[in-house]
Amino acid sequence: METRLQFLIDQARKEITEITSLNELQSRKSHYIGKKSPFTELMKQLKELPKEERPEFGKKINIAKNQLQLMITEKESSLKQLAYETSLSDNIVDITMPGRRRNKGALNPINKVWREIEDVFISMGFDVAEGYDIEDEFHNFDALNTPQDHPARDLSDTFYIDNNILLRTQTSTVQIRVMENHQPPIKIIAPGRCYRNDNDASHSPAFHQVEALVVDEGISFADLKDVLNLFVKRLFGQNIESRIRPHFFPFTEPSAEIDIVCLKCLGKGCNLCKGQGWIELGGAGMVDPNVFDKLGIDSEKYSGYAFGMGIDRVAMLKYKIPDMRMLFENDIRFLKQFK
Ligand code: PHE
Repeated sequence: METRLQFLIDQARKEITEITSLNELQSRKSHYIGKKSPFTELMKQLKELPKEERPEFGKKINIAKNQLQLMITEKESSLKQLAYETSLSDNIVDITMPGRRRNKGALNPINKVWREIEDVFISMGFDVAEGYDIEDEFHNFDALNTPQDHPARDLSDTFYIDNNILLRTQTSTVQIRVMENHQPPIKIIAPGRCYRNDNDASHSPAFHQVEALVVDEGISFADLKDVLNLFVKRLFGQNIESRIRPHFFPFTEPSAEIDIVCLKCLGKGCNLCKGQGWIELGGAGMVDPNVFDKLGIDSEKYSGYAFGMGIDRVAMLKYKIPDMRMLFENDIRFLKQFK
């Protein structure tokens, strides 16, 4: 029986030392410590021994059992420690690796140009005024000296919301809003959204204009030309000349169209300027005295000029965008080119 005990102890020691997983340890533990363990069997066989040897041997079995228990507990904690360490080294985080970059958006070219235009005019002493996208016929047409039968009033050009209420077709409405509320001197620009029933590569039903209005004593056409020249050079470059051609607008007299030298061919003639060497930028003129009179501004004392141009058109020219619709699709691949 002595040899049997020694054999059991040696076998258990060897087995437990070789165990490499917690699961395995768990199952062997119940084998050695549980109710049906070989040690319990030995205990049962004690009665076969002579009476005086029984206590001594029983003690030996218990000691062996306790030692085994201790060994298992130690093994258990060393296996747990090992499992923890491997889990750390498996999920290692390399803090020196470069992070994933956020996908940053970019300003729409319209916003970029809008801000540039504002900056140029603010630097020349202009204030920025705002009007309303939804207007009435008075501010969009009547006050701007537009006759009742003017084609621009037509349903096919103007989006009407109600009888008298419409989406403004031009930022010139802000001229009226400002002059209703302020006496000269006035020196403002008014950038904003406008709406017309037009939709093709160079027209969008919702588009952007910027209006300028300067009213004071002794304002002349020369002032208009001077400011236009300065503005065009500041926005497009020192080598870009501008010119004005006679035109007609109901609310300015005389009226003119503003051209700039073609940005692509610099005047030689190309497909962008259709061989002209010049590109149309917007409209301008001296405020018609009729407009002043309707608003209670003394047209004998004051004179003024106004001009307006499409912000989207400026953006297309500056960034060589072939189709206006690209500006409104918000395709991230397109926008990212203007970072
Ligand atoms: N509002 C005019 C247009 O939309 C442009 C313009 C503005 C003309 C100011 C003269 C003066 O065509």
